[in-house]
Amino acid sequence: MALSTSSAITLNINGEKHTLPVDHRTTLLDALRERLDLTGTKKGCDQGQCGACTVLIDGRRAVSCLQLAVAAEEREITTIEGVADGERLHPVQQAFLDLDGYQCGYCTPGQICSALAVIEEHAAGWPSAVTEDIRPEAGAPPLTADEIRERMSGNLCRCGAYVSIVQAVARAAEADVRVDTEAGA
Ligand code: FES
Ligand code: FES
Repeated sequence: MALSTSSAITLNINGEKHTLPVDHRTTLLDALRERLDLTGTKKGCDQGQCGACTVLIDGRRAVSCLQLAVAAEEREITTIEGVADGERLHPVQQAFLDLDGYQCGYCTPGQICSALAVIEEHAAGWPSAVTEDIRPEAGAPPLTADEIRERMSGNLCRCGAYVSIVQAVARAAEADVRVDTEAGA
């Protein structure tokens, strides 16, 4: 007996349920873009290296090109389309807009989804690879430019808008960050 290679699944995206049949090999990225017309999430490398396809799954960032749609059932998925509050931009979106945290904008949805998680992770006291004192009792490290660069390092920007991206994340996190614009971010 031949095994079925497709199933009907229900995805919970931005607070709405979507039921659709998918081939079991369909990535979450392709389900979002090709099946549900949620094209804000971008495809860059399609192999987990550029971060353009970053979404939030249960509040944690994930590259949707490496996630099978069938494995995302019963998870809370947030894409860039679900970040704003109606017409009001999220503070992270507003900071990217105000500080020109983009040029062509292709990487921007992924950058913003990552930044949302970075701010949460930092506030929760998660250390990064550049955190000097990782003892739990040390608490959240200062959110320096180096911390932001490291925490956002999974999101590439081919336009090189890194200086403004760091500034935008710092603004959204209300961190007092000095960015060396001569050296680049
Ligand atoms: S498209 Fe997913 S990481 Fe590049
Ligand atoms: S703004 Fe163009 S790739 Fe980042």
